Formats: sequence, C-alpha cells, structure tokens
Amino acid sequence: MADAPEDNTGSLKEQLAKVFEVSIKVTVPDESQVVPIIAPCSKKESGDYQCNNAMSLWSKIKGKGTEFKGPQPVGQAIMRNLPASDMIESCSVAGPGFINVKLSTQWIAKSIQKMLIDGIDTWAPKLPVKRAVVDFSSPNIAKEMHVGHLRSTIIGDTLARMLEYSKVDVLRRNHVGDWGTQFGMLIEFLFEKFPDGEVNDQDIGELEVFYKASKQRFDGDKEFKETAQQAVVRLQGGEEKYRKAWAQICEISRRGFEQVYRRLGVHLEEKGESFYNPYIPGTLDLLRQKGLIKNEAQAIKFKEGQVIKIEGAKVEKNKEDLVIKIERGQVITIEGAKVIKNEGAKVVKIEGARVIKTEEGEVIKNEKGEVIKNEEGKVIKVEEGQVIKIEGAQVIETEGGQVIEIEGAQVIEIEGKDIPLIVVKKDGGYNYASTDLAALWYRLNEEKAEWIIYLTDVGQREHFEMFFAAAKLAGWLPTDKNKYPKTSHVGFGLVLGDDKKRFRTRSTEVVKLVDLLDEAKRRCKEALEERGKAAQWTPEELEQTSEAIGYGAVKYADLKNNRLTNYTFNFDQMLNDKGNTAVYLLYAHARICSIIRKSGKDIEELKREGQLKLERDEERKLGLHLLQFPEAVKEACTNLLPNVLCEYLYDLSEKFTSFYSECQVVGSAEERSRLLLCEATAVVMRKCFYLLGITPVYKI
Ligand code: ARG
Repeated sequence: MADAPEDNTGSLKEQLAKVFEVSIKVTVPDESQVVPIIAPCSKKESGDYQCNNAMSLWSKIKGKGTEFKGPQPVGQAIMRNLPASDMIESCSVAGPGFINVKLSTQWIAKSIQKMLIDGIDTWAPKLPVKRAVVDFSSPNIAKEMHVGHLRSTIIGDTLARMLEYSKVDVLRRNHVGDWGTQFGMLIEFLFEKFPDGEVNDQDIGELEVFYKASKQRFDGDKEFKETAQQAVVRLQGGEEKYRKAWAQICEISRRGFEQVYRRLGVHLEEKGESFYNPYIPGTLDLLRQKGLIKNEAQAIKFKEGQVIKIEGAKVEKNKEDLVIKIERGQVITIEGAKVIKNEGAKVVKIEGARVIKTEEGEVIKNEKGEVIKNEEGKVIKVEEGQVIKIEGAQVIETEGGQVIEIEGAQVIEIEGKDIPLIVVKKDGGYNYASTDLAALWYRLNEEKAEWIIYLTDVGQREHFEMFFAAAKLAGWLPTDKNKYPKTSHVGFGLVLGDDKKRFRTRSTEVVKLVDLLDEAKRRCKEALEERGKAAQWTPEELEQTSEAIGYGAVKYADLKNNRLTNYTFNFDQMLNDKGNTAVYLLYAHARICSIIRKSGKDIEELKREGQLKLERDEERKLGLHLLQFPEAVKEACTNLLPNVLCEYLYDLSEKFTSFYSECQVVGSAEERSRLLLCEATAVVMRKCFYLLGITPVYKI
C-alpha cells in the first residue's frame, strides 16, 4: 500500500485530493501530473465526496496497451491503491469508475474538536498569492457617494476580508476620483465665494449643492468657464493656491465618505487618481516604446450593411470601415439604429450606458430609453458599442469607459474591440484609462501585487477589459488568465427600488448613504424596543445591537445575491427575522450562545476534556458541513463571489436547526458532546459574520 501524504492540512476537498493523488500515481505511473477531480457526491446516499478521474484517465491510456479493460476497472484500481487514511471510512465504485467516499465520522468529529482547540484560523484556505490590491468603494470627490459605491464598498470589504483571512497581504485601495477637469470649475467657484481662502465644511455645506451651483456658474458664464479651464492647468501645474483649494475640497468630501465607512466598519487606504498622475507619462512611454500607442485616424465604424445618411450629403453604404465626417449641424441617420443628430452638440448617448461625462465633467444620467441632453439641449443617440466622431467636439467618455473617438487623440487599438482605448485626449490631457494604466503599472511594479481586484458596477466592464487587454499587449500580464499576476474586474448589478427602477428617494435625488444606514438602524431599534429590550438592556447594548443588526442587514441583503444581478433594496425584506436575512442568522447565532450559557458548563474545559461525537444523522450532517467551511471560503474567494459564503452560512443555520430539533442538548446524556457541536457552530458562524463584515450579537 502506498504511503499516506504527509501534509494533512487544507480543505476537505484538498485533503482528499492529496490521498487520491498518491493512489492515481500508483495506478497509472506513466501518466504525469494528473490532477485529482474531487467533488461532493451527486447522490448523498452514495457517500460524501467522489473522485471523478477514472473516465478521463481511461481515455488517455486506452490506446497505450493498458491492462485495464475500461473506466470501471481504473476506478476500482484507484480505490484499491488508496493509502491508509483516517479520513476515509469506506469507498465504492459506481458507473464508469466514480469512486464514492464516505468520510469517517470519527475523523470529522476529531477535526472539529481540533479546530476548537487550535482556533478557526487553522482552517484558513491557502491561496497562490502573497499580495493583492483590492480597489473598491472609490467614490468621486465633490459628488454624491451613491448606492453603487455602497455595493462596491460592501462587496470589496468582504473580498478583502476573505483574502486577509487566507493570509494574503491586502492593500485596500480607495481609488477616489480626485483629478478631473471638474476641479477647475470647483476651485474657481470656491475662490469667488471665499476670496480670502478660509473655508470649512459648514461654509460649503453640502458638496453636492456646491457642485451644482458651480456647474451652473460654469455653464452660464463664458468668462468664468475660461478662468475655470485655466484653473485646471494651474492646478495640474502645481500652483500652491490651487493645490490648497483642491486639497480643501477633497478633504471635505473625504469627511463625508468617512461617515459611511465608520458606520460600515470598513477600512480603506486612499490613493486617488491624483496619486498616479505623475506616473502617467512614464507609463505611456513604456507603451509607446512597444508601439502600442497610435494617433487616431478619423474613422467611424458602423455595423456592416448599415446605411448612413448625412443630410445635405450623399448616402453611403458601409461595407468596410468607411470614413465619415460630420460637419457641425449635419444630421445623421443610421438605418436600423438610432437617429443621430449632430448639431454641434457635445453629448452622445450610448444605450446601455448609464452615465456620460462630457469634457467639462458634466454627468448626464441616462435611464434606458431616455433622451440625453447637453447643456444646449441637443441630442445624439448611438447604439452601444458604436463609435462616432464629431469634428470639433470634445473627448467624450462614458463612465462605463466607452469612448467616443476623437480626432487627434492617442489610442491603443485592441483586437476584437470596435472602440480604441483613448489614452491621451485630443487636447493632450489624460483620462480615466491613462490613470488606470499608470495605477496598474504602479501596483504591479512598485507594490508588487500579484492579484489586482477592481470593484465597480458592470457598466464599467468594457473599460476594464480594454485596459487589461492593453496591459497584456504590453506584456505586463500573462495572456493565460489562470496565471499570476492577474487582474479581475468584479462587476455588480444595480440597486433597484420597489418600483424596479434605480433606487432613489421620493425627491428623485440619489439616496444619501448615511441616511439609508441610519434608517436601517432606527428600524432595528424600534423592533427591539417593541420587544421590550429597552427595559432589559443598557442603552449602549440597545444601540450596539441595533447597529449590528441594521448595518448587518443592509450588507447581507447585498452580499447574498449573485453580485451580477440587480437587487431590490427593501427594508421590510432585509429586516425580516425569518428567511435568508442577517436578522435571522444573527438571532440563530444568539440562540446558540444562549443554549451554551444556560447549560452552565465551562466550554474551555469541555474542549480539552470532553469528546465530540456525531452519533445521530443530524449531528453528522452538521459536523460535515462545519468541516466544509474552508472549501466555501476558498470558492467565494477564488471566484470572487461572496454569495457562496452567504449560502454556506444560511445552510449552516438550517443544519443547526435540524440538529437542534432532533437532538436535545442541555440535560441529555450527550450534553457534553452536543455543547461542543453548538460551540463549533457558533465559532464558524462568527467567522462567516466576520468575513461578511457583520458584527455578531450574543443575545436577543
Ligand atoms: N471613481 C470611479 C467611479 O465612481 C470608480 C473607480 C474604480 N477604480 C478604478 N481603478 N477605475 O465610477
């Protein structure tokens, strides 16, 4: 019999894989590097896990004069050759060689007890990276931090926590938008309102309002507009007075963001867009040296066969890529597409995109089907992915990173993409993409990160795909996406209101995040008061519990969904104490704690002296599920899907409920063992809460 593997750490699946690896090597010694395929049993009655290598091994060896007569015998042999292992109670081979494994119940019990003594950190999954950047939250200075940023903050924090738990050194980066052309306007407006330069939060009031007022000024006064444009140049040139005003505006925004982070218990380190600005020229030089940056030709690409009509011009069919010039004031129609009117307007609507930025930093929200107007009220519609060039217009970029091609811009052409990636604007300025390229260079080379994870709504997917592709062209990232260093864009869907439209308050303004979180807490406090807790608890306890449940509920409601889907924000649903909610889970945890408390037993003594046994079916099921925790974290982490951990947690509490309704704990003959099982459940639940950024409660 082969020797058992020496290393017996890792998740259940990984430990089984090691045992099977030994056996596969003995069974088919000529096949190199066979990776054991281990999965939970499809039929629970056949076992706990199965090894699925026999079929693929058979197809590899059958032509090579093997002694085996089919996949079944290969499976049989792998089973026979398994080294002695405490883990495995029994095995059987089914169908075309699937090897079903029933884990040893005693081993499961022992492993849980070992975790109780050594601590749950010994269950941390192992990941193949040492350092990662998680770029999350990243709101824009002087603008509202909206629910999209809330999702980014919540999901990003969880991913960072899971990586940290897996012993990865995580750089939690707040890539705030602090370096746009909008600062010229803001600074000039600030100077106008406070000529002596002394301002504080109260003076400015709400930055949103300040932003809108300065925008109005900018749009309404040509002279102001010019000064504002010069202000950008002076700011970027490093002029003291301008830097100071800029820093002041950033600081006020920052304090607003902090209020949200404090409530959520999220820690971030700010390295905003401005930080990377000095690195852009060098980064672009590197790309230029590789011949990647080109001066953009004057081309518009439309889908093949589309007819383009230019009023006052000829009708042309676009078979290849035709070059079309649109004079100011000309009207363009694309058959089968949308009408495009170019009346000297500077705004383009791209269906599917949500927010569009003009050069001036103006943001125009685009509800599906809604017409977007620029300040002059002119309208342009383009289908998603189409590229339009408007002579004399500015560089236009959507928030999703889609780019409207502009004459004179420097671009990187990426195969398979209709739209080139603009890295230098027509006016020589840098943009979102050039900043992200510089930040990527910095993270790879200065910070030595091996995995760089970005969280934004799915609308920005194109932008990320484009600059990741550029980085691959430059040779910064391997083309094999399973190799490191690696970049991942973690996209997420919209937050919807009950009306299934983008979440807003009654006044149709974006929801203020702080108010939203406060509301969740207020509702929880009310519910606790209704249950008479104000009389039983100290005011601090009431306060802390309402916060834990309220904020926890908001987080969990977000995290439990597959992040790519839109989710509906609904207080009643998320604060329900039944069903898959944080409230239900927190109560379940508190109930377990109260069982342990009421027993009056010393858990520390039990961990050392007691013996955990899993005699009843429900006990074994719960025990096995506990042991699958590392697997769940690893999957959630590697696939960047926090909902996997939520599902695990919900399942855990369901399994506990079945156990508790079948097995008496306090006062039973098995009390000592069952209390250990309760404790292990509470420990794993708390780790799940911790990883999801939720504060546990111990009593209800
Ligand atoms: N500030 C951007 C926004 O609000 C998000 C930035 C995401 N991070 C990045 N490296 N692009 O949409």
